[in-house]
Amino acid sequence: MAIALAIASGKGGVGKTTVSVNLALALAQAGKRVVLLDADFGMANSHVLLGINPKLNIANYLDGSALVSDLIIEAPYNLKFIAGGTAVNDILNTQEKDRYKVIRGMQDLSNETDILVVDCAAGGADSTLDFVSASDQVLIVLEGEPTSMMDAYSLIKILNQEKGVKKFSIFINKASSELEAKQNFEVFSKNLVHKFLDARAYYAGFLPMSKVLKQAVIMKKPVMIHNRKSKEGIAFQKLAGVILKAPRNDKKGICFFE
Ligand SMILES: Nc1ncnc2c1ncn2[C@@H]1O[C@H](COP(=O)(O)OP(=O)(O)O)[C@@H](O)[C@H]1O
Ligand SMILES: [Mg+2]
Repeated sequence: MAIALAIASGKGGVGKTTVSVNLALALAQAGKRVVLLDADFGMANSHVLLGINPKLNIANYLDGSALVSDLIIEAPYNLKFIAGGTAVNDILNTQEKDRYKVIRGMQDLSNETDILVVDCAAGGADSTLDFVSASDQVLIVLEGEPTSMMDAYSLIKILNQEKGVKKFSIFINKASSELEAKQNFEVFSKNLVHKFLDARAYYAGFLPMSKVLKQAVIMKKPVMIHNRKSKEGIAFQKLAGVILKAPRNDKKGICFFE
């Protein structure tokens, strides 16, 4: 059965797209049938990391000029990629009906998909709230500094209180060590999520600050394609293993997959 994993964060620039692209590739390398949807509409840039120049994107589906099947771009390891469009396409602020149309469009892929990875817009954008609540799992990416933690907590609080999302996998990016990442997770889960909300946070792993990742973006060559055996590549493979076993949310309302 197909499942959906939303990748979200409190603030921008913390590594959602880096994690989405490389995790999607790691899951594909593990033999899963993966679709990566760039749902950071209007500010989409997953295609840049993948080194792809999409001719069509979600805006073409929303304006009725393309079907979802027309949007699918074949990426390495059988990964299927759907581009999100840029502000030029005038889809920065989607309407509710557009977001539901996107969710329904993905439903059509359920028979040929094991995992849909959704790279969401930063913060509590309406699209992010809808796409997370339409997903089976959510991975929150954060950096272990106070502003990133507070913004991530604010997002979790909105998702929990407005959408009833209860289980959150947490990935700590740009940590200086595994010990620091785990300490940051402990503080975040104990002092915020578990203290104030009827929600659970689960540690999903960490990445160090990395020149290899920075370089991968500049070269448009994802680590999971060109440098799989690096420590960053191994971290994404580990994350893929964690995600395959991570707790899932009970879904209400409109979902990517029933
Ligand atoms: N672990 C890391 N080490 C170094 N640079 C990173 C790391 N993770 C992400 N980056 C860089 O940070 C910037 C923002 O990352 P990105 O994935 O685009 O974030 P987001 O999608 O959350 O806005 C990019 O330039 C990316 O290369
Ligand atoms: Mg991004």
